[in-house]
Amino acid sequence: MKSKSADNAAPDPSELPRHVAVIMDGNGRWAKKRMLNRVKGHERGADTVRTVVRTSREIGIRYLTLYAFSTENWQRPQTEITALMTLLKRFLDSETREMIDNNIRLNVIGEKERLPEDVQNVFDQTLSATAGNDGMCLTLALSYGGRAEIARAARAAAQAFKDGQIDVTEITPEYLSGFLYTAEIPDPELLIRTSGEIRVSNFLLWQIAYTEIFVTPTLWPDFTREEYLDILKHFKDRERRFGRVSS
Ligand code: FPP
Repeated sequence: MKSKSADNAAPDPSELPRHVAVIMDGNGRWAKKRMLNRVKGHERGADTVRTVVRTSREIGIRYLTLYAFSTENWQRPQTEITALMTLLKRFLDSETREMIDNNIRLNVIGEKERLPEDVQNVFDQTLSATAGNDGMCLTLALSYGGRAEIARAARAAAQAFKDGQIDVTEITPEYLSGFLYTAEIPDPELLIRTSGEIRVSNFLLWQIAYTEIFVTPTLWPDFTREEYLDILKHFKDRERRFGRVSS
């Protein structure tokens, strides 16, 4: 959905989603359209990340989760993977100070241990430097896959059963939720996907059961603060019934 009534005013804070998740797609196509290397698209995409993080914090979003690198992305050419890792490090180098100053806590979901050691180290530094912040939680999904996350939770529950800690009847959705990477954060109310693809690509499969999904044709490097605010304003027009009837 893309609305035409974009303007720069912030939406009413009481009508904002508490948690916004984003599938940042279209960096490669943005570069291709300009006959540039795909990495240039990711570089411009990193600028959009800065804009969306800043805007979210400014208007009062409490949780922002960005799909930065999927488990499938390991199959990309090594040069592109290396460039993405460098961009992540550069992002933390340039943004950690701002996260501290703006009371933003960094969080990572996914197989962080699969990232190169130098990238893990930079992440660890920022994670501990921002651990006490409670203004907004910025979660980066890195080497993340929704199915792997659910399988990991199922393994933990099976282990608890095997160890005699629980009965099988105790394996409820609530119990399994406690083993997800996102155990401490609420499910997103809004999922935005850029570049027009209408699919969820293994992102937060469990957590988006009742999430409103907005797909915009805009490629991620072209996604602006104005379009973000516009989507947030239209979010309130969606009636969320959670399977119940309208009141
Ligand atoms: C999808 O575009 C995007 C990614 C796989 C990576 C997202 C990374 C960034 C936005 C930049 C770095 C991130 C941070 C947090 C600083 P694509 O390459 O799949 O685009 P395409 O579908 O057009 O080829």
